[in-house]
Amino acid sequence: MVDWVVNLVPIFKALHIAALSLWCGGLLVLPFMLARADPNMLAEDYRIIRRATHITYTSFVTPAAVIAVIAGTWLIFLREVFVPWLFAKLAFVALLVVAHAWIGYILVRVAEEPGHHKPPHPVLPGLAVAIPAVAILFIVLAKPAFDWLTFPDWLLEPRGGQLPFDVPSR
Ligand code: HEM
Repeated sequence: MVDWVVNLVPIFKALHIAALSLWCGGLLVLPFMLARADPNMLAEDYRIIRRATHITYTSFVTPAAVIAVIAGTWLIFLREVFVPWLFAKLAFVALLVVAHAWIGYILVRVAEEPGHHKPPHPVLPGLAVAIPAVAILFIVLAKPAFDWLTFPDWLLEPRGGQLPFDVPSR
């Protein structure tokens, strides 16, 4: 690969790590911020918690997730890591995205049904984030070879199949 492209790797990696730190840190802290919301508290305090969690989720955590995924996707091609550990990592990233959506859903319910919706104990969403995040960190830092995984030949070779419609020659 050309030199200037290789030189971009540290920049994308730094961006990736900075963004995923904000992403995972934010997801871990949000359930604990929400846990302070109590139906019996003053309306003004409730408003402060609701606003702080909303701004944290929409202005910091979600944009950081998007940046982490975009930078990570660039790194796949820059580092040419089309290897089993990456696919295992992406499976856990999918779980992290589900946890992200779940925390967003809890935030909306707390905001739209003040005093009626009790958020789950913060440890539950906290674990839903921490388990995939630790698994991802383990996979990405250990980069296990997964040698024992074998794929059938038909998944590893072009099959020479044709599309069921005409395509331009170039
Ligand atoms: C769609 C999401 C993601 C994609 C496509 C992605 C992809 C990648 C790629 C291709 C690398 C470069 C690996 C190498 O240089 O050998 C990387 C590095 C890294 N990723 Fe991700 N990643 C994603 C999300 C995450 C998440 C959520 C975490 C942590 C919770 C994470 C943690 C890291 C770390 C710590 C590194 C640096 C590893 C090293 O340099 O040895 N990534 N990522």
